Amino acid sequence: MKLFSTVLAAVILFVSASPGYAEKEKVDYPEGYRQWAHIKSMLIEPGHPLENPFQGLHHVYGNKLALEGLKKGSFQDGSVLVFDLLQYSRGDHAIQEGERKFIGVMQKEKKGFSATGGWGFEVFPKDSKTDRLVADGGKSCFTCHTSQTDRDYVFTRWRK
Ligand code: HEC
Repeated sequence: MKLFSTVLAAVILFVSASPGYAEKEKVDYPEGYRQWAHIKSMLIEPGHPLENPFQGLHHVYGNKLALEGLKKGSFQDGSVLVFDLLQYSRGDHAIQEGERKFIGVMQKEKKGFSATGGWGFEVFPKDSKTDRLVADGGKSCFTCHTSQTDRDYVFTRWRK
């Protein structure tokens, strides 16, 4: 009986660790995203509703599937969007990029992230590929992104 329950526990552990069998636990670090398509940029200054925590200069990147999704208005599994937020400084009538504050990531896995619209939300601080800041499974990110339900929860639009 002891052996049986040990085997059972091992099977449960294996199944819950296998992708596709259970909720995906983690958003992957978007390796190589600086080589993806740059979609848009925006400077958020103090006083803007998104000031905390998004003050700074951000660039949005998307992989190939995300670009298809932007054009269609719905995204298939494997689509990834990156919100790359940098410090900025003002001088000589110019605004320059500074150090990275964090990257915000949205990764589409309909089954894995079913509680948040099929999107996994994560924040990797500074240049870290392993530290993760989202503690509530992405619920607070998702709550704001639900205003874009008719565009599969994505704010960014494709421009020519
Ligand atoms: C209060 C509202 C709000 C919250 C909370 C929020 N976002 Fe967003 N997010 C936005 C807006 C607005 C944009 C579009 C920015 C632009 O136009 O450049 C955006 C854009 C993004 C994008 C680029 C794709 C898109 O939808 O345009 C990613 C990736 C992203 N957010 C990740 C996150 C993550 C991760 C969190 C949680 C840590 C989060 N967001 C929380 C409002 C929010």
